[in-house]
Amino acid sequence: MLLTSLFTFVAGATLAWGASLEQVTDFGSNPTGIQMHIYVPDAVAESPAVIVALHPCGGSATQWFSSTQLPSYADQNGFILIYAGTTQMSNCWDVQNPDSLTHDGGGDAGGIISMVNYTLERYNGDASKVYVMGGSSGAMMTNVMAGSYPDVFEAGAAFSGVAHACFAGAESATPMSPNQTCAQGQIQHTPEEWGNFVRNSYPGYTGKRPRLQIFHGNADFLVRAECAHQALEQWANVLGLELTQTVPGVPSGEYTQEIYGDGTQLQGFFGEGVGHIAPVNEQVMLRFFGLIE
Ligand SMILES: *[C@@H]1O[C@H](CO)[C@@H](O)[C@H](O)[C@H]1NC(C)=O
Ligand SMILES: *[C@@H]1O[C@H](CO)[C@@H](O)[C@H](O)[C@H]1NC(C)=O
Repeated sequence: MLLTSLFTFVAGATLAWGASLEQVTDFGSNPTGIQMHIYVPDAVAESPAVIVALHPCGGSATQWFSSTQLPSYADQNGFILIYAGTTQMSNCWDVQNPDSLTHDGGGDAGGIISMVNYTLERYNGDASKVYVMGGSSGAMMTNVMAGSYPDVFEAGAAFSGVAHACFAGAESATPMSPNQTCAQGQIQHTPEEWGNFVRNSYPGYTGKRPRLQIFHGNADFLVRAECAHQALEQWANVLGLELTQTVPGVPSGEYTQEIYGDGTQLQGFFGEGVGHIAPVNEQVMLRFFGLIE
């Protein structure tokens, strides 16, 4: 009798503690030795969607895990979160690395794709519902992933990043690097040239391209808002879209939304007075991904 109630108590307590962020050490090919953590909610869906969440410079999987409300959305909606982590280059992603800027070229991007493959296989994930998001360096890497792996990602959301290949030709991509040309918004390219960087990352690819949301603060002096305009020009060129509408006050007061085409494939958000990093808007992002109502 006592044993039974003890057991009930322990089982109840386990449920209440719920899922936690777990490290995975053996997830497949990992050319740059990055780390994988995963959050699988207790009520994981039968064929779950998967979101790759990428931390900013100096961050980590555990830091980014506790920086947004995504884990509680995962609890409510049954999707899986992959938290990749790098300890190289001041914990910044290798967005300047030609390997990451090339489909199946390796780099941090290659390790992240291994994590996606591992997760889809292990948890019967829905390969048509794989997403990527991140802040700052993680947002830059979001654009890298969307450009180099259009076959893997259905959509992405970048909070204060730069265009795919903006850092190409730079030695590193950290706030301490002497070369801040990209982050200061000083790289000059036509939309066609920006688009070519994406197309050249996976020559011959003719399939579907990821949909994207680009968030940025107009008061960001570390990574200038110009970088987000370049990313939008790039994706508009790749997706064959034009800016159709500018809507003040969306998603809230200080923001202005830029709608490309009918808005289902590309949206920008610029926050007046918003600095670095533009706060993650989980609701706006997850609605765009199609993961919540
Ligand atoms: C991931 O899976 C895809 C599809 O099975 C495969 O083509 C690709 O080589 C895999 N990539 C890695 C890095 O494991
Ligand atoms: C600085 O980085 C950019 C890419 O962001 C690159 O095009 C340029 O050549 C680099 N400048 C120097 C002096 O290395």
